[in-house]
Amino acid sequence: MTALVDGFGRVHTDLRVSLTDKCNLRCTYCMPAEGLDWLPSPELLSDDEVLRLVAIGVEHLGITSIRLTGGEPLLRRGLVDLVARLAQLSPRPALSLTTNGVGLARLAPALAAAGLNRVNVSLDTLRRTTFVELTRRDRLDDVLAGLDAAHAAGMTPVKVNTVLMRGLNDDEALDLLRYCTDRGFVLRFIEQMPLDAQHGWDRNLMVTADEILARLGARHVLTPVSGRGSAPAEEFRIDGGQATVGVIGSVTRPFCGACDRVRLTADGQLRNCLFAREESDLRGALRSGATDLEIADRWRAAIAAKRAGHGIDDPGFLQPDRPMSAIGG
Ligand code: 5AD
Ligand code: SF4
Repeated sequence: MTALVDGFGRVHTDLRVSLTDKCNLRCTYCMPAEGLDWLPSPELLSDDEVLRLVAIGVEHLGITSIRLTGGEPLLRRGLVDLVARLAQLSPRPALSLTTNGVGLARLAPALAAAGLNRVNVSLDTLRRTTFVELTRRDRLDDVLAGLDAAHAAGMTPVKVNTVLMRGLNDDEALDLLRYCTDRGFVLRFIEQMPLDAQHGWDRNLMVTADEILARLGARHVLTPVSGRGSAPAEEFRIDGGQATVGVIGSVTRPFCGACDRVRLTADGQLRNCLFAREESDLRGALRSGATDLEIADRWRAAIAAKRAGHGIDDPGFLQPDRPMSAIGG
């Protein structure tokens, strides 16, 4: 086993696998109302192909943690079986899933039984009208039921991801925190990043980590929790109790220096960063008969070329061609 080390000494142990670029919501900060041109099916990795690539990561490259993402990964047919097969890998990776929560109420028990360890659920608002405005779908109740089902199925701690947007839901930070702490969910606020398909991101509209902390600090005493490691979230203990809240300042407090993540798109392209402008075609290698060791070498080379940071503040910054929904969070 030779670990995935880049030119800055960062060791990559966390693999994010996008299982589909499709989604059943249309969050305004992610997709246009009409959706996107979805990837053609022949280009998508089959379950066997996903499993083979993940196995190479786990057996040859030191990957210890797998996060399934989308688009919306619950839309992937056969997801429960795929999770069960991933759970058979050795050494057994930690398995988690990032979902919008729609459909989770139905699937949570089977996913937990198949070996899924944890879920992160996106929830930006508790107001039905705001939810509809933001996601262009009337599914808030499904998401809230999904959260409860994941918790009941033992996939704990259930984490909630929230993106605050000025004038839309930025007045809900404290309500969302209360909702989560009451139920034992761990809330994390994420700064909005320039990854939307419409290229509408505006730095001045972004609610910053400083602002989020000021809003939370107005009602709570927040004590930084030390030992962040490679986690993007800065964690804070709330009012000296057990509960914590996280703030992911992707833009204003970048954590690239400790990044341990690598991403595989649903069409089998390896990305060494959310913001990468180049990809490595593992699907092509796989389908042209490359051996496991050849694929592992290609994977190592892709990581070796990883840049120091996302470069959002560089004058020449260009948004990646793929939107977030085709990369996975
Ligand atoms: N900036 C920050 N977070 C985003 N997400 C989707 N698009 C963006 C963006 N542009 C979040 C989703 C979900 C996770 C996968 O990433 O809300 O929680
Ligand atoms: Fe779907 Fe997530 Fe994009 Fe919303 S942010 S449209 S839930 S992929």
